Amino acid sequence: MNTVYFFSGTGNSYRAATWLAGVFQGRVKPIGAALEPEDGLLGLVFPTHGFTAPWTVVRFALGLPEGKGRPACVVATRGGVKVGPLFIPGMAGTAYFLVAMILAWKGYRIIGVQGVDMPINWTAMLPGMGEKSARAIISRTHRRMDSFTRSLKAGDRIVFARGSLMELVVGLALLPVSLLYLTTGRFGLAKLMFAGDVCTGCGLCARSCPVGAIRMQGEPLRPFWTYTCEGCMRCMAYCPEMAVEASHLFAGLEYKLGGISLSSLLLCGIKRGRAVRLAGRLADIGFVLLMYAAAYSLWQALMKNAAIHRAFTNGTLTHYWRRYHEPDTGLDDLKGLS
Ligand SMILES: Cc1cc2nc3c(=O)[nH]c(=O)nc-3n(C[C@H](O)[C@H](O)[C@H](O)COP(=O)(O)O)c2cc1C
Ligand code: SF4
Ligand code: SF4
Repeated sequence: MNTVYFFSGTGNSYRAATWLAGVFQGRVKPIGAALEPEDGLLGLVFPTHGFTAPWTVVRFALGLPEGKGRPACVVATRGGVKVGPLFIPGMAGTAYFLVAMILAWKGYRIIGVQGVDMPINWTAMLPGMGEKSARAIISRTHRRMDSFTRSLKAGDRIVFARGSLMELVVGLALLPVSLLYLTTGRFGLAKLMFAGDVCTGCGLCARSCPVGAIRMQGEPLRPFWTYTCEGCMRCMAYCPEMAVEASHLFAGLEYKLGGISLSSLLLCGIKRGRAVRLAGRLADIGFVLLMYAAAYSLWQALMKNAAIHRAFTNGTLTHYWRRYHEPDTGLDDLKGLS
């Protein structure tokens, strides 16, 4: 059976997975679904985060059974934008090559890798895209992906296409940014999220998070974002009250906290070799994450005060921005219930 696994925050990668599965007459499954012994094509479709693959996807690829020559196709969706008649592509960086390399190492036969543009969904940082532009990007990508998947079906192998190699070169140059994103950025992003004052405590965000990162707590019940969060934007996109916000005020505080180097304070005046510098760097990351977590817990406690809560709700740009999800994708699709 041909199976296309997907990880998707706001439906873009789910949609691309359905296109791939459609041509191969296979099925789509979220990557959290139980793995069954299978043969046929293994597809893996996921979004680009920080110019590489999300950690959840890397972990899933590492946990797959031995491939024993099973054919595999890896597709990363990236954030494209449309300005007037211009389609501006996103940048997948190392996203699909990293996952393809893991699969090849596990014994899968890679038949296709590709990065495809879908509407950018990072609504913590940018306003959500309007439906008309989004649909224009999606249908353009559908056509391109259709020709890619039909070539694969006909027996072609599309791995080192010129565009992909260029993207890999840029991705390798951006590797320090990707590492920073994986080790600190995504955790910082998780701790920007909060429920604004229109939250009803319904718990839909917690139930639909693909990685179970939201804990409902307190009286009245409110969501609390833990470090498991992948920053996929699903909670923000599908909250029925548009209550999920990312605080840009808190992002400013994180920026200040991120600049504090524990190792420089502790090792001041001590000559440092490479091993000590590396240990210092790791200690710095751990320290920054502890500070983010402590500051976030304190902030959540302060927001029990209605005036403070309102000030943070009205004081962040996301409060005025449109949300985005793939126009034809609902939460049930993303849970694999369709
Ligand atoms: C936290 C985060 C980081 C992102 N980083 C990138 C990036 O480095 N390059 C890019 O082209 N798009 C980036 N995007 C955009 C998404 O990869 C893109 O919109 C994708 O299609 C979303 O797919 P999904 O709806 O399946 O989650 C990012 C989005 C988020 C939320
Ligand atoms: S943030 Fe939205 S989805 Fe989550 S509990 Fe509040 S109202 Fe419900
Ligand atoms: S908490 Fe929200 S942004 Fe984070 S992984 Fe879950 S649904 Fe995605």
